[in-house]
Amino acid sequence: MKKFSIAIDGPAGAGKSTIAKIIAQRLKIEYIDTGAMYRAITLKAIRNGIDIGNIDKIVELLDKTDINFTNGRVYLDGEDVSDEIRLPEIGNLVSQVAAIKEVREKLVTLQRDIAKNKSVIMDGRDIGTNVLKDADIKIFLVASVEERAKRRYKELLEKGIDVSYDDIVKEIEKRDYIDSTREVNPLRKAEDAIIVNNTDKTLNEVIDEILSIVYKKLRCNV
Ligand code: CDP
Repeated sequence: MKKFSIAIDGPAGAGKSTIAKIIAQRLKIEYIDTGAMYRAITLKAIRNGIDIGNIDKIVELLDKTDINFTNGRVYLDGEDVSDEIRLPEIGNLVSQVAAIKEVREKLVTLQRDIAKNKSVIMDGRDIGTNVLKDADIKIFLVASVEERAKRRYKELLEKGIDVSYDDIVKEIEKRDYIDSTREVNPLRKAEDAIIVNNTDKTLNEVIDEILSIVYKKLRCNV
């Protein structure tokens, strides 16, 4: 089969990464979690005591940073930070870092590079509208705020991270606001994206729904 790409965009906690990971396994293609890249640079800025409002310092830091994916894990300068980047402290600041134009330019270049020679499924906020504008399949995954907060809350509790449900709702709403109102490549449904609603559905139902969209599209295009 010829090389193809799938873009999944949507608001915070809609289930993109869980779903994209499973679809990647089923289709034997690579999964690229672009949110993890923004989270990794945010983590590094916090560790280095850099104020998130200090754009020059963050851009300078990014120039000295290596982010890559191996076997589904995220490495920051060679260290596996896959779990640490999911902490609520990172969630609270990542959207501010992701709104910096220079940070986006650099990470988008890296994302396109990874996708250049292989079939991929990539999730984020601006994949269908910017990073992979020519993606073969574009999905816009949505779910109610309550459903998204409930899922994120459960996920963090299972990892032993103590959080309050109300704080999670606040974090998600704040992130949605910043992500969809920022100047550079805001969260937006691409015109040719198909909306999939992940409220009140099982994981398998949503996976099947997306896979049937993928098969239908690829059959027409290949
Ligand atoms: O998993 P969740 O939906 O909570 O978020 P994520 O995909 O890990 O992304 C974390 C944050 O990174 C988002 O809230 C955005 O601020 C930013 N992001 C972005 O701006 N562009 C992307 N392509 C991916 C993430």
